[in-house]
Order: sequence, then structure tokens, then C-alpha cells
Amino acid sequence: MTELRILPAAAWGDQVAADLADRLRATPALRLCLPTGATPVPVYEALVRRVRSGEATFADATVVLLDEWVGLPPGDPARCDTRLRAQLLDRLPAPPAAVHAIDVDDPDLDAAVARHAAAAVGLDLVVLGLGMNGHVGFNEPGSLPDSPTRIVRLAASSREAAMARYGASTVPTAGITVGMDRILAAGEVWLLVTGDRKAGILRRALRDPEDPDCPASCLRRHPNLQVIVDEEAAALLA
Ligand code: PGA
Repeated sequence: MTELRILPAAAWGDQVAADLADRLRATPALRLCLPTGATPVPVYEALVRRVRSGEATFADATVVLLDEWVGLPPGDPARCDTRLRAQLLDRLPAPPAAVHAIDVDDPDLDAAVARHAAAAVGLDLVVLGLGMNGHVGFNEPGSLPDSPTRIVRLAASSREAAMARYGASTVPTAGITVGMDRILAAGEVWLLVTGDRKAGILRRALRDPEDPDCPASCLRRHPNLQVIVDEEAAALLA
């Protein structure tokens, strides 16, 4: 079942953070897959506040990163591990019990992929952003519901985003993503979408027929999908 929740923009980040804190309280050993990008920034900001005030803790939780660039050096400002640490993990009073970043610095990338595919087994909750081209993680257009955790060729728009939006020091050559198979096998999936620039692709993901050219549309087959959006992103959903 897909539940669509449309929230006022001003309340959106704090509400998603409150829901995450609820999940952590209900299941302290939560296995949680988290994205980076611009969308979750207000969520992480509010979540840090809530965890610092004692509402919830990550101390028993496992965090699995959703995706990572290949070809960016460690510490690069666009690296997903750098961003998640700076925005969330390093600001928590107690670190998560385990954090599975994607080891793109391993010269044996196939081994890194295999380790991450294993880390992404049995996720309780996967949180996703939505790409302007309909991607989720780096499951770019053409990805299928059974696409595994893998190395992917990045869409041009994703490479441009690395440079223009996230400040990468060099153009990434590829990406590694948790596969659609692991996302669809998770207990719950939350798709987070904000801003009017996403209204068109959100409409396509939710209202048009399921289509691998818009991988987010395949999420609708998940039995427990929440699409949590602000009013601007929802503008074309009537
Ligand atoms: P954004 O990216 O949150 O920075 O808009 C989402 C995505 O491309 O997956």
C-alpha cells in the first residue's frame, strides 16, 4: 500500500524527523538505510535536535548508506559518507552501533559491492530522495525491480549534480547503489520529496504507469511505502 502524506513545507523536516525518532524508540536496533542530497538536510537537522534532547538514540541502530560516488577522493565534500557524517552521524551524542559506508576506496570495487549488498540485507526502513530523472539512490532510469546492489554508470544529470549542487572536486566516474531488490525487500520505504522542481517527476512516479524509465514508480509495488512530500512537490498530484 502507498500512503501519500502532504505536509506544509515549514513543518516537513521536523515531522519526518519525529517519525524517525518514533521508529528508533519502537525498534532501538533499527536497520536503517539513509540517503544524502539536499532533500534530507532539514530532516537530519531536526533529528539531531531530537536525539540530543533524549527523544531517541542511534546507539543500538545500524545505518547503511544508500549510495556513493566512485572516483571522488576520501573527504570530498560531495561524498555521501562525508555528507552523512557531517549532517547527522558525527553530531549524534552516541554513534550508531554500526555504520556501513560504501568502500569506494577499495581497489577491488566488486568486493566492496558484495560487502554492501550483504550489509543491506534485512533493512527495516529505507529512506529515499527522488532524482529529477526518477532515480532512487543511483538506480538510474532503466533499473528494474530486481536490480541488485551494483556499480552503475551515472546519468549525465547525476554527474552534473555532483559538481554543481554538491561541490565535488572532480567529476565522478560511476556510482555504487543499494539495489532495487534490497529496497523493495525492506520492511518499510519512505520516499521524501520537496520543492516545486520535483512536482513533475513526482507526478510521473505516482500517477503514470510503472515504468523502469522512472525507477521510483516501481516503489509502488512495495507493500509499505510512504511518500512524504511538501505542498510544492505535491502541486501536480491532483
Ligand atoms: P536532492 O537529490 O535531494 O539533492 O534533490 C535527490 C536525488 O537526486 O536522489
